[in-house]
Formats: sequence, structure tokens, C-alpha cells
Amino acid sequence: MEKIKLSYSGSFISQNKINKAGRTLQKEIKGMSLASKKGYGNDKASINLPTDEKALNNVIKIIKAKKALNPEYLVVVGIGGSNLGTIAVQEAVLGKFYNQLNPRIKILYSDTVDSDSVQDIMGIIEPVLKKGKNIIINGVSKSGGTTETMANFEIFIRLLKKYKKNYEKYVVVTSDKGSKYWNLALEKGFGTLEIPKKVGGRYSVFSPVGLFPLGLIGVNIDKLLEGAALMRKQCLNKNIKNNPAALSAILLYLNSKKGKNIADLFLFSNDLESVGKWYRQLMGESIGKEFSVKGKKIHNGITPTVSIGSTDLHSMAQLYLGGPYDKFTAFVRVRGNKANVKVPDFKEYSNLVDKIQGKSLEKIMNAVLEGTKAAFRKGKRPFMELALPDKSESSIGQLLQLKMMEIMYLGFLMEVNPFDQPNVEDYKAETKRILSGGSF
Ligand code: PA5
Repeated sequence: MEKIKLSYSGSFISQNKINKAGRTLQKEIKGMSLASKKGYGNDKASINLPTDEKALNNVIKIIKAKKALNPEYLVVVGIGGSNLGTIAVQEAVLGKFYNQLNPRIKILYSDTVDSDSVQDIMGIIEPVLKKGKNIIINGVSKSGGTTETMANFEIFIRLLKKYKKNYEKYVVVTSDKGSKYWNLALEKGFGTLEIPKKVGGRYSVFSPVGLFPLGLIGVNIDKLLEGAALMRKQCLNKNIKNNPAALSAILLYLNSKKGKNIADLFLFSNDLESVGKWYRQLMGESIGKEFSVKGKKIHNGITPTVSIGSTDLHSMAQLYLGGPYDKFTAFVRVRGNKANVKVPDFKEYSNLVDKIQGKSLEKIMNAVLEGTKAAFRKGKRPFMELALPDKSESSIGQLLQLKMMEIMYLGFLMEVNPFDQPNVEDYKAETKRILSGGSF
């Protein structure tokens, strides 16, 4: 399997400083290696998902059963860590236009309580149900009590019940074993898939949260996990030079100490945009903390942003190259596209833009990326680069695993707990209070 390559010659951080931070990180690399041998016993549990064969077999069993129903649509009802990873992998591997390309099973996502978009989804699936065809609803909630997810789930269940007598067999609930949602699913006879207790939402893409919907629509989940497992091995390496997660965390950390408190993930591939959104949650929720692990009020954080190349060069490049020196950029490039589209060789058009006739779009995109990097270097704008072999399942598995372990290492360097989200819980509790008649 071809590996992802990280280069950082444009990071403007000296090797000495990287080595020094690398020595600090040794303790955490050791902790991570220990966790890799301990199943789901501690906060770093998610690193063991890629090798959990029991969970995988269970997911495959339910996929087979639901595929046998010949569904036309899968509706994933979940929010945040409960759907961002699925969207990221689906779009990266199968493309943003997946639904329009006539797949066997189309996929729709319902996350927030937006009346119009929930209505639109119902407008798509109701005619399918009316025709006597099938759909699958996958409700995903770790806590089993997220307001938005439960509201939307109930709406889709009502619709399903209207058309299906044994509606239960079209529903799969993914949750924490023993949550209220889990118990209800058992009571109703829905399919159930368990999220290990210690695996938090934003680290759950390789659990049934991502594996079930992705496998159902045809993503090769074995290959996804294979890529993740390969990357996990690399990211446990004590030698920082060969440990991309540790190296990347160090670069983010040292740049933030130099005032670069915005981390831009600059993805030169349209289909990776949702990987950016997934990463925003991962970094935002894990690193943005009021208190340090020692209980000191620190209001820590790096603000994650997402850019798409070359699109955003036409909207953001002026700011990136001329604005404040407050950003550290991680370019992500894909070496092998699936398609090889070329500009036609029309001589009569050659005076519009010179030297593009007959060239492949990939070649033009590479020129744009190299040009951008040259401008960043010239302007002393720090960056690193991740080069993906392609957008196959194994490459995307590697990328997501790298990023999850990077954030764990970054949490250690910044002395914050990358696994909790006390302030998110705050808004959830306040919402429930207001919905129960409390004042606001
Ligand atoms: O990372 C997290 O824990 C959160 O963003 C959750 O994923 C999100 O709030 C959804 O929670 P739940 O899966 O419990 O419905």
C-alpha cells in the first residue's frame, strides 16, 4: 500500500526545535503505544478501532441483512461526530456527485433541525416509499440524547411507519450500549450497533458510526481500516521523523507558539472538502479548551479553517499572502486522480491562456499548487504538505487516522484534554432547559 508523505521544508521551524518538542512528546508516544495494546480501556481507545475484527464482522452482518432489503436510499440521522466522518469518507472515496451518478443505494444526511432541509429529504424519500420501494434509516447518537438527532429521527420514523407495516426492520440505531436510545431501539426491535464507551464522537469514524453507512453504500471498509491500521503503526513510531502525526502536531504547536493560531487545511481536491469539515470539529473541539489538564484557566485554541484549491485562491489568497502573519497552512494534494481529463488542443483558443492546450487538468492543478507554495515561501508564510497517493479507501483511512493521532499529540503538547467537550455539553443542557419551558 502506498503511503501518505509529509513534507515540511516550508514550515519555517528549525530542526532543532522540532527535535526538542519530539523529546517532550516521547512520553505520549509511549502512552499511545500502551493504549494500542489495551482495547477500549482508555481515552485513546479509538486508535484500536481499525483492528477490531469483532466489531467489523458485526457491522458486515447488519449490512448484509439491510442490503437484502434492496433499499434505494439510506438516510443517516446524526450530527457532529455522528455524521461528519461518514460524509468525509463518502465524498472523498465516491465523490461529491455520488447521488447524481445513479448508484445502487443513494445516501442522504439529516443533521440539524432545519425545517426546510428535513422537508426536502422527506420530499425525496416519500415518493420512493409510495412506490413500495425501501429505504433504511440509520440513527446515530453516541449519547443517545442529542436534541436535533432525536427530533429528526422521530420525524423519519413517522414517515416510515406510514408506509411500512414492519417498519422496524428498516431502522438501525448506532449508539452507546445502555443509552436511552439504545434501550428504545432494543424495545422496538431496530437493528443496533454499539459505539465503544471510550470512543468519543469525533474519533468514531472507524467504529460502526462510519462503517455501517459507508459499507452499505459500497465503500470498501476493509481497505479503509487497512489504511488506518497502517497509519496507526507509523504514528506510534518513537522516531519523530517517521511519525507523521507527531511531526504534524509539533509543527502546529510550534507555529501556534509563534502566533500562528489559525490552522488552514488547504485541500487541493473538491472531493476532500468534507474531510476539512470533519477536521474542523476534530481540532476545534479537542484543542479549544477553557482549562488546562492541570485545571488552570488558559482559553487555549487554534482556529481550524478549510480552503479548497484552486477555488479559494480566487477568494482568500489576498488575505493569506498579504494579511496578518497568523496562519499555518497544511496543503493536501492528491497524486493520482481517477480520471485523466485534458484541455482540448484547439489552436484557435490558444491566445486566451497560453500553454494550457492539450494539457491534463492534473498538470494544471499541480502548477497552481506549486505556484501557491512558491508564493507562500516568498512571503514567509509557513506551511507543510501532505501528499496522498490517491483518494482510495486505504489513502483516506490513512489520512483520517493520521489527523486523529495528530490531534491527540497536539493536546498533549498544549496540555489540554483532547477527549472532552465540556462547553459543548453546556449548550446542550441549556437547550434542553429552554425546551422544557425555562427562560432565556
Ligand atoms: O464530538 C462530539 O462528542 C460531539 O460533537 C458529538 O459528536 C455531537 O454533539 C453529537 O453527539 P451524539 O453523537 O451524542 O448525538
